[in-house]
Amino acid sequence: MRSRWWGAAVLMGLLAACGGEPKEPVEPEPGNNDPNNDPNNDPNNDPNEGALTFFKDIKPLLDAKCNQCHFDGGPAPFALSDYAQVSALRESIRLAVQERTMPPWQAGQGCTDYYGDFSLSEAEQRGLIDWIDGGAVEGDPSQSPQVEVRPPAGLSRVDLRATLPEAYTPPGTSPDDYRCFLVDWDEVETKYVVGYDVKPDNQAIVHHLIAYLITPDQVQEYEALDAGEPGAGYTCYGGPGGSRTNWIGAWAPGSSAKLMPPGTGIRVDPGSKVLIQMHYNTLAADPSPDRSTIEFTLADSVEKEAYIFPFTDFLGWIRGNAMIIPPGEKDVVHSYEFDPTNFLDAVTDGAIPNGAFKIYSASLHMHTLGTSGQIAIKRGGEGDECMLEIPRWDFNWQDSYGFMEPKTFNTGDKLFLECHWDNSAENQPFLRMDTDGDGTPDSFQQAEPQEVRWGEGTRDEMCLGIMYITAQ
Ligand code: HEC
Repeated sequence: MRSRWWGAAVLMGLLAACGGEPKEPVEPEPGNNDPNNDPNNDPNNDPNEGALTFFKDIKPLLDAKCNQCHFDGGPAPFALSDYAQVSALRESIRLAVQERTMPPWQAGQGCTDYYGDFSLSEAEQRGLIDWIDGGAVEGDPSQSPQVEVRPPAGLSRVDLRATLPEAYTPPGTSPDDYRCFLVDWDEVETKYVVGYDVKPDNQAIVHHLIAYLITPDQVQEYEALDAGEPGAGYTCYGGPGGSRTNWIGAWAPGSSAKLMPPGTGIRVDPGSKVLIQMHYNTLAADPSPDRSTIEFTLADSVEKEAYIFPFTDFLGWIRGNAMIIPPGEKDVVHSYEFDPTNFLDAVTDGAIPNGAFKIYSASLHMHTLGTSGQIAIKRGGEGDECMLEIPRWDFNWQDSYGFMEPKTFNTGDKLFLECHWDNSAENQPFLRMDTDGDGTPDSFQQAEPQEVRWGEGTRDEMCLGIMYITAQ
């Protein structure tokens, strides 16, 4: 799920429209000051032609890699569309681009090719920084390649909507609130989810939305969780709790409608429910009501039934409580590998038969102590295949990354998962604490490191790989 097939088409359309990546200036020959020797200088043209300018080089880059989020009313806090705005923000842009906190594309370079990749190449990163360092020259608007920035479209057809049962206002007692809501699935026949689009209602506070499929045999378990707390929904941090976590949709700032790879879809039987996990953040906005929706496009049948396959060291890390992250340690590593081809039929409820299978996308899930991680197929020796490498884990920008070409997993291969965490004193969360001893929390203080293991709480950790798979 969370494949970017549709978004990719739009982005590739954009790149095609602007004639590919912005050109890098050609280096003039060193030691020769004759302007006619500078290959960037065509004497019949503008003498400034060699310099990077906003209109010629930077605007097309921002339109292709930033402005799907940075537009007025968009998910980012400001637009990056006109020269005055961009120039005024240039120091902050330089910092974000240098540190690679922007654009928020988490997958590292050189692992594999992804659909809709909006990361900056090293040349683009350097170009943007050089332009800022060179005085952020405006240039000539007539030199701007025509780039059509199309607003993201929705689904071509909406067959079912799942909306929070009632408007919910986060309490605001801490900046983050994770709340799970159980929503009915109204279809009376088996259907396949082939696309979805999340409509966050209150964008000022909605930070993330993940939709989980609750199968008919799990409904009772989740109804009990839901009934366990007063008001609509229940508190849920790392996941929805309970026995299973099968995603059928997700949204983070900047996400648009997603279509599953052609011919594939996720089966939903009548009597199922959708569990919507909302992450609200009220650091920058006062708590106010939200009633978000996820829309689905459904099909009666698909060529290949797909399954969202979460995997982890279930027996060791969860059952065995063996994912120990000792206090004070700066780089704690746990890794796991296994061959799931003998269990597929059982774990996917019959959706995928045992044996070789195809993988279309991968995502990683950790909590806030996570620093980096990797998911790969180990085939032994040369044939190892990287699926996802996250060099700088950021809990706030989790997403799944769809491959340009699906990967084949053969019997005898191993799925490899590795997570790194920093549990040193400097990397601890700020918590509301009672510092004057009157029994009520009065200020935010950095917590002391403590031993951390697998769990659902804000100070527990996870290491989970999630893939969208079908039969071979
Ligand atoms: C997927 C959506 C998205 C894309 C693409 C994106 N941004 Fe952002 N950007 C955001 C959001 C959301 C914030 C606010 C971050 C926050 O509040 O934590 C932000 C914040 C920023 C900031 C403020 C400083 C910071 O780091 O928070 C800068 C500067 C910035 N973006 C520059 C860029 C540039 C330059 C690009 C393209 C090269 C880009 N962004 C691409 C969503 C995006």
